[in-house]
Amino acid sequence: MRSAMVEALTLTTESTAPASADVRPVVWTSAEWIAYFRANADNLLDIPWETGAGVTPEELAEIVSSLSAWQLGETSDGSRLVRTAEKHAAKFNDPAFVDLIRLFIAEEQRHGETLGLFLDAAGVPRARRDLGDSLFRVFRHFLMRMEVWATVVVIIEVHAMLYYAAIRRATRSAVLRRICEQILRDEVPHIRFQCERLAIIRRGRNRVLMGLTAAAQRVLFVGITAAVWIGHRRALRAGGFTFRRFWRNAWAQMGRAWQVMNPKAYR
Ligand SMILES: [Fe+2]
Ligand SMILES: [Fe+2]
Repeated sequence: MRSAMVEALTLTTESTAPASADVRPVVWTSAEWIAYFRANADNLLDIPWETGAGVTPEELAEIVSSLSAWQLGETSDGSRLVRTAEKHAAKFNDPAFVDLIRLFIAEEQRHGETLGLFLDAAGVPRARRDLGDSLFRVFRHFLMRMEVWATVVVIIEVHAMLYYAAIRRATRSAVLRRICEQILRDEVPHIRFQCERLAIIRRGRNRVLMGLTAAAQRVLFVGITAAVWIGHRRALRAGGFTFRRFWRNAWAQMGRAWQVMNPKAYR
């Protein structure tokens, strides 16, 4: 089930079919997304914990402070997001959306937990609070709107795709590489999920407002890209990114997400 669903998620918005046949995808319902998250939870990759952390001190030195900050970021209890989702679910008359958000949060917490277990295995103390986490608390008021939430999350997830690909390249640890593979597999549908939500919220928005939204998103995107590079450049470099390469890849990934969050991309 998972593979068919993931295949559906990778559908592009372009088409070579005649104009009469509308082949654009439809937005998934909350029930469909719930089915996806449940199926995904039953189809996780095996992590070879029996091999131990398997990370060399040299590799660890390059990634450890970054990874513990990222681990903390994946560990939020999600209570604010649930409250935001409850408001959104009431407004859109979609009560199942709250259950769906709980499944999404559980998946993010699994990322945090497996990364935490890796840090434990490597003998690294877990972080308690970092700058990104504190910034998040400052902006929490804005985050009570589902649109702002989904926007921030999709931008962070675009960077997570680059980040975990870099961590995977930066180590020969079988455990850490498998954890990165699982997170990368999960994040592709996450981005799609957030983009669909944004497309639903923006349906019917006029051109001027859409233009302002796009501009605000680009400002936010540039800020987050700069912050991720500044905070994590050592690990990103260890994974083969120069700033230039990171910047270009971030724009390319985000460009695809911008296509998928366009309401016109759907029937
Ligand atoms: Fe995650
Ligand atoms: Fe995610």
